Amino acid sequence: MSNTATIEIGDKKYEFPVIEGTENELAIDISTLRASTKVITIDPGFKNTGSCESAITFLDGEKGILRYRGYSIEELADKGSFLEVCYLLIFGELPTQEQLAKFHKDIKAESIVDEDMKRILDGFPKSAHPMGVLASLTNALVAFNPSSVNVNSEEDMYKAIVKILGKFPVLVAWTMRKKASLPLNYGNTSLGYVENIHKMMFHKPNEEYAVDPKVIEALDKLLILHADHEQNCSTSTVRIVGSAHTGLFASISAGISALWGPLHGGANQAVIEMLETIKADGGDTSKFILKAKDKEDPFRLMGFGHRVYKNFDPRAKIIKKAADNVLGDLGIDDPVLDIAKRLEKVALEDDYFKSRNLYPNVDFYSGIIYRALGIPTDMFTVMFALGRLPGWIAQWREMRLNKEPIGRPRQIYTGYTYREFKEIDKR
Ligand code: SDX
Repeated sequence: MSNTATIEIGDKKYEFPVIEGTENELAIDISTLRASTKVITIDPGFKNTGSCESAITFLDGEKGILRYRGYSIEELADKGSFLEVCYLLIFGELPTQEQLAKFHKDIKAESIVDEDMKRILDGFPKSAHPMGVLASLTNALVAFNPSSVNVNSEEDMYKAIVKILGKFPVLVAWTMRKKASLPLNYGNTSLGYVENIHKMMFHKPNEEYAVDPKVIEALDKLLILHADHEQNCSTSTVRIVGSAHTGLFASISAGISALWGPLHGGANQAVIEMLETIKADGGDTSKFILKAKDKEDPFRLMGFGHRVYKNFDPRAKIIKKAADNVLGDLGIDDPVLDIAKRLEKVALEDDYFKSRNLYPNVDFYSGIIYRALGIPTDMFTVMFALGRLPGWIAQWREMRLNKEPIGRPRQIYTGYTYREFKEIDKR
């Protein structure tokens, strides 16, 4: 394979280097294209365009492979803990016992949120969507942690990282509790990272806190499965906002806003709403399959399809199995799980979906487990954000350590050419 690519424009030929990644992916390096040809490329949605070289996550959409720092998602979900995966994604290696203990200790030391943050939360109506509240509170954290903004040294970056890993779960819990009119409290630093999150979310002020270990196990697994996914929409947002040397917290707030969209992380909420609609409509999945295929109908099969996976999303396979286990363990019979399975079966046998390589993605079954764990539907995407936090942090840190330039795409202008100003009485 040649390590150069030739582009012919008019009667001129130009050569550009071809770079190869560790998984033998190839890219044409066009960083000198405009300077040497006066021509740019254009690629709506960046379907064919790489924004960076990254050593964090590898995914192969054709083979349904997903690895964090070389470790398979299947092994990490089966054998790892979410806190270990946070460390792995951010610092590149699975931690030793000592490293993990220090990481957790440093996070716990930063897991109190300024009391005045509650006044900001009080300003939101209960009808506010939790993703909008969380994005705002995450940005507001900057005001109470100004040292987290201009982080140039790795030491300062580490301090900002343990701050957000300590404080973000508190914001998640408070966002949920506020809507439920529950007091805003803390967990307990004697608990594990994920168990503490669960306690903050669910502890009732008049009860002893107790939880089935299978619930914590399921939550930990779900957070691992959502932890990173290379250059998806929200991660690309975090990287481009961070490329302006915006602080970590504000960059993550921008990522939360991107994740909110129903085509991205917001799909997990949309899937349950879709399944509930099908259930209320009598459970006839074929009607909704027809709607999804109808170009005139804006309805899409939420939780289906993916920009990169043209095979099964490996996370969907794991979550589907976990849904069966969690509902079985908790003795829950949720009819929407059966509807989801029927919908999947019908779609995977239908040529419209097969010909477009549309398979269930990470969002198709996750809401069924969140619901079984007692999480309100409008909090599902917040749970996605909680899982994706270490991935956003890792990608932001890599971009800054690589000293990447500010992101600033070009365009092809298609508006008016020059025209003279017209006085208002002549318009
Ligand atoms: C996530 O990128 C990531 O890594 C994201 C994510 C992560 O971990 O960060 O994996 C998380 O966002 C998962 C995706 C969640 N979104 C949904 O489930 C929403 C429903 N899915 C779609 O809207 C769609 O599949 C996207 C947005 C996910 C992908 O869109 P693309 O890659 O731009 O594909 P497309 O819209 O060009 O679709 C190609 C064809 C079109 O039909 P034709 O024009 O060829 O006739 O497939 C059709 C689409 O109409 N199609 C669907 C469909 N998804 C695509 N038709 C019906 N139902 C669907 N869900």
